Amino acid sequence: MHLERVAVVGLGYVGLSLSCALASKGFKVIGLDKDYEKVRMIEKGLTPIYEEGLDKVLGEVLDNGNLKLTQSYEEMINWTDICFICVGTPSRPDGSIDLSYVEDASRMIGKCLRNKKKYYLVVVRSTIPPGTTVNVVKKVIEEESGKRLTDYGLCFNPEFLREGKALQDIFNPDRIVIGCLDETSGEALLDFYKSFHGDNVPPVLVTTPTNAELIKYANNAFLAMKISFINMISQLCQNLPGADVKVVAEGIGMDKRIGREFLDAGLGWGGSCFPKDTIGLLKFGESIGVRLPILEATIEVNDSQISNAIALAEKLVGGVYGKNIAVLGLAFKPGTDDVRESRSIRLIEKLLERGARVRVHDPKALEKSREVLKNKVSYASCIEECLQNADLCILATEWSEYKGLKREMLEKLMKHPALLDCRRIYDPREFKGIKFAAIGLGEPSI
Ligand code: UGA
Repeated sequence: MHLERVAVVGLGYVGLSLSCALASKGFKVIGLDKDYEKVRMIEKGLTPIYEEGLDKVLGEVLDNGNLKLTQSYEEMINWTDICFICVGTPSRPDGSIDLSYVEDASRMIGKCLRNKKKYYLVVVRSTIPPGTTVNVVKKVIEEESGKRLTDYGLCFNPEFLREGKALQDIFNPDRIVIGCLDETSGEALLDFYKSFHGDNVPPVLVTTPTNAELIKYANNAFLAMKISFINMISQLCQNLPGADVKVVAEGIGMDKRIGREFLDAGLGWGGSCFPKDTIGLLKFGESIGVRLPILEATIEVNDSQISNAIALAEKLVGGVYGKNIAVLGLAFKPGTDDVRESRSIRLIEKLLERGARVRVHDPKALEKSREVLKNKVSYASCIEECLQNADLCILATEWSEYKGLKREMLEKLMKHPALLDCRRIYDPREFKGIKFAAIGLGEPSI
């Protein structure tokens, strides 16, 4: 089956990166988003999010006409053979997942499929709790379209994209997971990926939609657990003279069964995925009467890293009340301007609660941080300005720009040079002679 014309619903980082990647390989893509401003912005070649390399590809695919944008489901479905649903699945206040955007998209697609004569494949990429493809998407599409599976196709196909590296991960994924109920749908999607990846098709797992949905949650939960594990060990190291979590991570990471990735101790995990997905899975378990204690502990340890950092800061400068604190890094991780669930922002809020005066810097996320922190902090346009007259500098997001920080610079600019490394990017030996502490380091000079 040759599915050439592609629709993408929802132009967040997942949908927009997918649209651009497909269009850059010659597929004809039409992207839809309900947000009028976002559509206008993308049409002008502007990316609403910072993604490495994305603006360049977007410009190219708009210029060569491979990517079009619309707000009309009818136009989109009439014109295409396959549709990827990439809409958001936000948390409700209790942490359970709000599926209303997925339901809306399914309803609109279903309505438009009523008059579609040709085979059409619907692929859900949004992260959804196990059972949703069958119990919500399929049900709604069939109610609205009057069609039954095999008249149309349906798959759940999770994405494993990292923000900031989304294009790279689309072109070179570790694997493709296809969840489908019927063979035709699975084969149609596999053929589609074969035409996208050419000779380099990654390993493929074809399974039920429920397994595929669970794979996505379990994958993120496992990664979050790995980080929380090393953060738990970091708390142990801090209370053990001579211990250093970086070395411990290196040592256990050499075991191939463990691996070194996602063992960087620090302030913990943030972003739009791990926090939402861990609590989402916990709530899903609850809804079917299953407790997930490892996941509960994963979240608990993550939260405790903020108080851990605050305790180190307090100790380092003798209480943060009234102190001028320079915080380097606001994005939830380097390489993005996203501050959703950023640990740095959480830390800053705690510092403010304790009466500290905070000045912040970030190479990309200043603008987005302003929307959250408003005038509660002051904003510096460069590292030097941020450090000026400060009593303490906290490294909160490990941008490469911050790696070159030198002791002399802190001594020259700060009122009382003191550095708290919350992402373990500095060599403590280079900061001998000034106050220095780091997460997971058993011998800080305090
Ligand atoms: C994560 C997953 O890595 C992707 O595979 C997944 O597709 C995505 O969620 C999603 O569900 O859409 P992302 O949220 O972009 O991607 O961020 P990561 O690079 O995984 O980092 C998450 C958080 O963990 C960041 O706050 C980062 O600073 C922190 N982290 C990561 C650590 O504290 N230590 C580490 O060793 C690694």
